[in-house]
Amino acid sequence: MLGDIVYHNPTKLYFGEHALDHLQEELAGYGPVVMLSYGGGSIKRNGIYDAVTAVLRAAGKTVVEDPGVMPNPTLEKLLDGAKMAREHHVDLILAVGGGSVVDYAKGVAASAWCEEDPWEKYYIREEEPSCRLIPVGAVLTMVGTGSEMNGGSVITNRAAGLKVGKVFGPENYPRFSILNPRFTFTVPQYQMVSGIFDIMSHILEQYLSGADDNTSDYLAEGLMRSLVVSSRAAVMNPEDYEARSNIMWTATWALNTLLKMGKAQDWEVHMIGQAIGAITDATHGMTLAAVSLPYYRHILRDGLPRFVRFAKQVWGVRPEGKTPLEIASEGLSCLEAWMKEIGVVLHAAELGVTEENIPAIVKGTFLLDGGYRQLTPAEVADILRESL
Ligand code: NZQ
Ligand code: ZN
Repeated sequence: MLGDIVYHNPTKLYFGEHALDHLQEELAGYGPVVMLSYGGGSIKRNGIYDAVTAVLRAAGKTVVEDPGVMPNPTLEKLLDGAKMAREHHVDLILAVGGGSVVDYAKGVAASAWCEEDPWEKYYIREEEPSCRLIPVGAVLTMVGTGSEMNGGSVITNRAAGLKVGKVFGPENYPRFSILNPRFTFTVPQYQMVSGIFDIMSHILEQYLSGADDNTSDYLAEGLMRSLVVSSRAAVMNPEDYEARSNIMWTATWALNTLLKMGKAQDWEVHMIGQAIGAITDATHGMTLAAVSLPYYRHILRDGLPRFVRFAKQVWGVRPEGKTPLEIASEGLSCLEAWMKEIGVVLHAAELGVTEENIPAIVKGTFLLDGGYRQLTPAEVADILRESL
């Protein structure tokens, strides 16, 4: 384990079919005004809205309705939400939805009482909040991002052509998150598999980096193996509770800061994926799926020993009679076969990306140095061309 570690994750999880039963006891810990933030209406169609508002009523809360948080939430929506939260002196933001709603809620929580420009302060200068934070609670309805137990808040600034993730500290993690796997049964298949790939990508971004022997990498291998098994079952039958609950739990542990402890991390796939998202508004996990294979094939030789380990430990590739490069390549072929099996996109063109978009995507891609190779803008362009 590298470096000195402080591990602190304050989010309280309630997990399982009866998780929502705990909402009322949690609400007792906050003042009377609750901002209910949610997306485009799925929670009204599947009954989650009714179930949550019944608890809010029973707890005697004044509810400030905040609908319309879009996938890939925008800066405009964030600023509107912050204004509303401030005007109503909101005591708790209850985010009911997927990663977009939870990310947005954290942004609002840190922006409502912020006297500076939140975009510049948090998303460009990456500063910590210096104002009062409004507490956030979450009822998760879509699995993948890990936002339910981390400080991530990804916001899209369309005018600037940027999609940027601010990682807030533990004081702005959700105070509690309610995770009922049944709430995810109505997620459309495209979204479900996108979320599944997002989970895989989060693990890979942390696993495919560093050369040390590190407990975190063994944890990552276990999570990936579970995800592969459960994803296959969930694709066959989206109402397989065992599979959906395993996927939900895996998503949370994939990105709640546990896996990154004491190790290097990459995150370049996310940087390219977010840059694609900034100009296409494509579904997050699909942007990652589109560029992962070209990227990993590009850096395969730079991180060969870890790619060999990935092939053997996660996919059970037999090493006998093969060179390290052959073993590693076979591991990526297994990843590709699994991606085809679950049905994620394999080409950025499927997300509307064209050759003409490549310069803008390259411009919006942050180049990080935690992986096996720091890319140049020209290499990002090559990877994008490869992914079309
Ligand atoms: O808006 P509604 O109508 O609710 O529909 C949503 C949305 O269209 C739908 N949905 C959610 N739960 C549903 C459901 N439909 C039917 N039944 C349900 N139970 O699913 C669609 C996608 O929702 P969204 O919240 O956008 O998906 P996801 O959870 O993948 O979140 C994506 C956002 O999170 C960011 C992404 O960049 C993107 O902006 N990320 C956040 C991270 C973090 N906090 O650490 C890390 C990730 O890498 C990621 O960047
Ligand atoms: Zn992600």
